[in-house]
Amino acid sequence: MDRFSSSHFSRRGGQLCVEEVSLTEVAQRFGTPCYVYSRAALTAAFQSFDRAFGDTPHLVCYSVKANSNLALLNLFARLGSGFDIVSGGELTRVLAAGGDPRKVVFSGVGKSAGEIRQALEARILCFNIESPAELRRVSEVASAARVTADVSVRVNPDVDPKTHPYISTGLKQNKFGVPFQDALALYREAARQPGIRLLGIDCHIGSDIAAMPPFLDALAKLLELVDRLIAEGIRIDHLDLGGGLGIRYRDEDPPAPREYVSALLQVLKGYPLKVLLEPGRALVGNAGALLTRVEYLKRSDGRDFAIVDAAMNDLLRPALYGAWHDIQPVELRAGVARRYEVVGPICESADFLGHDRELAVEQGDLLAVMSAGAYGMSMSSNYNTRPRAPEIMADGSRLHLIRSRESVDQLFALERVLP
Ligand code: LLP
Repeated sequence: MDRFSSSHFSRRGGQLCVEEVSLTEVAQRFGTPCYVYSRAALTAAFQSFDRAFGDTPHLVCYSVKANSNLALLNLFARLGSGFDIVSGGELTRVLAAGGDPRKVVFSGVGKSAGEIRQALEARILCFNIESPAELRRVSEVASAARVTADVSVRVNPDVDPKTHPYISTGLKQNKFGVPFQDALALYREAARQPGIRLLGIDCHIGSDIAAMPPFLDALAKLLELVDRLIAEGIRIDHLDLGGGLGIRYRDEDPPAPREYVSALLQVLKGYPLKVLLEPGRALVGNAGALLTRVEYLKRSDGRDFAIVDAAMNDLLRPALYGAWHDIQPVELRAGVARRYEVVGPICESADFLGHDRELAVEQGDLLAVMSAGAYGMSMSSNYNTRPRAPEIMADGSRLHLIRSRESVDQLFALERVLP
């Protein structure tokens, strides 16, 4: 019996399905490689966060970088979601997808003056300020435009999230946020800066965190600061704990969104603060799969390779972080299973999707790389001049093409040879 990380992917009569459609049909209609998402899984994930707050004032700001397809953004906007953005490009996407700018928070260590201006014009909810220099720039840009920028200070609480070092962000050696011991001084400065209104306090300690303690440690540090702000008469309206809740890729057992939110609310009791969260992975990760076809089987030096038509340009996570994604055959076949290196066609030894996977496969079979909804398509590239895969949204028995496959002509359309 297969165990899938999302109940919206299941086997029916030996066929792997997304909602009510078999992935064989998805591949026949749209070709491979392709990304496929479940609308019901996305909706359920959002609602599990949103409903966990009950009557507590809150805003779930989907972290756009996890998967920035307009159809996903639009779906979340319709469910009432806010958005966590890190660039002017992401802001433009959110607005194009019908997102409410008054529910947008802007994170990131390198906001340009142009991006700040764009966000002020759109009247976003809040800038998450990551340095004194950024605070001064936001103040200057806002003053020049004769508007007020609402800001939070992103505090670096120096908490170890116990996750992959590339996705840890809340340790003091990381580039993110304002060191805990400097934060109060920056609040005092912000309270005096023209064009600035203090709205909140913010942190984000890292990603794919599988247990509560790092979140609770970070929250405790933030509340220590909130107490000091209150004592100094500096008023804030919200506390934003960032994103970072992990998902099950294999056998991890992260808290469910409901448990996670209720543990936070328990600690926040008595604080008159609206609570913001910026989940990315936990909303979209298990709502998507990357569908790929076996091009060749090959045996080399005693190892079996399944060479598939998806590669590290489509899904970078295994190559970049050594991330483990479940790989499932779309149709179960009788026959002897072997242990395969599942690799792509790219000319890099890091181009693998899975090591040492027990599979009964033949050339031409379809495989589904599971839990690929987050940081899959959004981190894809055109390396080796590989057009990016299309994206499909399943909704019950229907399939919607939400991004077409790129063509090679599109890949070099902006290039010019010398005269
Ligand atoms: N807020 C901020 C300020 C962030 O930097 C991030 C993610 C999030 C929220 C959302 O975090 P999540 O809930 O998705 O953990 N590419 C990596 C993950 C990088 C995360 C970067 N920041 C991966 O594929 O695992």
